[in-house]
Amino acid sequence: MDQAQQLRNIIKNSNKPQRPLARIITVTSGKGGVGKSNVSINLAIQFRKMGKRVIILDADFGLANIEIMFGTVPKHNLCDLIYQGKNIKDIITWGPEGVGFISGGSGISGMYNLSRDYLVYIIVNLAELDAIADIIIIDTGAGISDAVMEFLVASGEIILVTTPEPTSITDSYSLLKALNQSPRFSRENTQVKVVSNRVSSDDEGQQLFNKLNAVVARYLKLPLNYMGAIPQDQYLAKSVMQQSPVSLQYPNAKSVKAFENIAGQLMNPGDAEQVKQRGMAAFFSHIITGRKLSATQPKAAEAKVIN
Ligand SMILES: Nc1ncnc2c1ncn2[C@@H]1O[C@H](COP(=O)(O)OP(=O)(O)OP(=O)(O)O)[C@@H](O)[C@H]1O
Ligand SMILES: [Mg+2]
Repeated sequence: MDQAQQLRNIIKNSNKPQRPLARIITVTSGKGGVGKSNVSINLAIQFRKMGKRVIILDADFGLANIEIMFGTVPKHNLCDLIYQGKNIKDIITWGPEGVGFISGGSGISGMYNLSRDYLVYIIVNLAELDAIADIIIIDTGAGISDAVMEFLVASGEIILVTTPEPTSITDSYSLLKALNQSPRFSRENTQVKVVSNRVSSDDEGQQLFNKLNAVVARYLKLPLNYMGAIPQDQYLAKSVMQQSPVSLQYPNAKSVKAFENIAGQLMNPGDAEQVKQRGMAAFFSHIITGRKLSATQPKAAEAKVIN
């Protein structure tokens, strides 16, 4: 069997209904520093508390966010899988509460240039994650880079983190616009969920969502789902300094209650069923066969509605 056929078989088999596929949730934002890594890690811990097996893939190359927040240094990263012949199990680091994480290193951005032999190897390995995890959370970098867009286009479920800062709302809109314009984006098979972070009240969180939703509904006709708000919380900021997730460090903090609620909403049966579970092999083959996209800024009329 040639490699192309082998690749097609892996993807086909990974889509068979009898094989459990992991739910892949991609956490993203238009603007940097709005709380993606905190959302990723704390939702992961909340899912663990609900008995789910969770792996976080840190796809923010360069800045090793998750490992710093976990206070654990991984021995290997995705590059070692690609270039050192490591097995997927070798590159998972198990952190507190049994949350697994994989450091992306610069591995994923280099994937475009790899030969098919390597790609088959990577996909075969990543497909194994479906047997190891129920939920895979992908913590992306911020903004409209090609690598982030590739992840979003391949995702069935996106969590967009936004804050009340005007630039955060504008950048969230720009990101959704670029996604919507991507020829490979499937609006039928993608759910975009919004989390409002660093708000002073639930009301402010809801208003923030309403504002973004209004402009997105009008210009992009893309349905957004509101998942709830996380308050501005000094204990969250403190926990980051202490390199331990707030859910573990200060379990009674107000932000932790918010993470519990959001995790609960994401796991409610209606919501979980609606998400098309693609599994890792299909997810990465989508990325690898992808093409480049470019950034799109909001037009003046659109900016007016946002501001
Ligand atoms: N709800 C919150 N309350 C207080 N501080 C917060 C909150 N959310 C985020 N922060 C602060 O913002 C900082 C950045 O958060 P985080 O690292 O999760 O953002 P990010 O979107 O992953 O950033 P990057 O784009 O650099 O990856 C945290 O270190 C923390 O100090
Ligand atoms: Mg981050």
